[in-house]
Amino acid sequence: MKVTTGLKGMDSVLNGGFPSNTVILVSGGPGTGKTLVALNFLLEGAAKGEKCCYVSLNEDEGELLRACKGIKSLCDVEKYKGKNLAIESIHLGESLTLKKFVDIIESYPHIDRLIIDNVNKLLMFGDTKTSYRIHLTELVKHIKKMNCTLLLCETENDNIDTGNGEAFETDGVINLSFSELEEKPMRTLTVHKLRYTSFEPKISHELIINSSGLKLGSAKII
Ligand SMILES: Nc1ncnc2c1ncn2[C@@H]1O[C@H](COP(=O)(O)OP(=O)(O)O)[C@@H](O)[C@H]1O
Ligand SMILES: [Mg+2]
Repeated sequence: MKVTTGLKGMDSVLNGGFPSNTVILVSGGPGTGKTLVALNFLLEGAAKGEKCCYVSLNEDEGELLRACKGIKSLCDVEKYKGKNLAIESIHLGESLTLKKFVDIIESYPHIDRLIIDNVNKLLMFGDTKTSYRIHLTELVKHIKKMNCTLLLCETENDNIDTGNGEAFETDGVINLSFSELEEKPMRTLTVHKLRYTSFEPKISHELIINSSGLKLGSAKII
């Protein structure tokens, strides 16, 4: 069974969506659309009655709802919130270690669609590169039991992860960026990796975000 992505254009590129029981890294620079793509993905599931959860280490619930209010197709997030869609804001402080975060996620019941925004905050709490990688492996192994998780990741320049193995640990990598194609600046979405699926590599699609919603434009070869 495929998990629809919330973007029709992406579902057709991926032959129906993401494979089930997978963890997908959604990486990109600031403002490339990671949070909105994730909310759009979650709402797609909530509308079908699936159990959905957004775990935010960044924005609190009020900020996420405010972002949704500005976009017509995301307004329904409020309707499902507290029903089959939960928004959990976790503040990492001195008392919350990476191990404790993994324990919190492991204490959750089965969730159809899970978002973790973002992995960079977890990196701050890895004492060493090795301990971060070990906990990341453990976290990914556990969240694979959920139907589909988007692990959001802030990246610099054209990198697809932080350089600490996130792209290797996960089943798929979707990279968001800003590009200039034919002198027109635009947001782009590129599928770098997706286990169990065939897709055309290195094809970037325009990601359109406006007040009516999110959609994928036509493919452009880079
Ligand atoms: N209502 C809107 N209309 C048009 N663009 C919007 C709207 N709301 C947000 N955006 C765009 O989306 C960007 C934020 O996307 P976001 O998903 O928060 O990025 P990221 O999580 O990758 O940092 C904003 O910088 C803005 O350009
Ligand atoms: Mg964000």
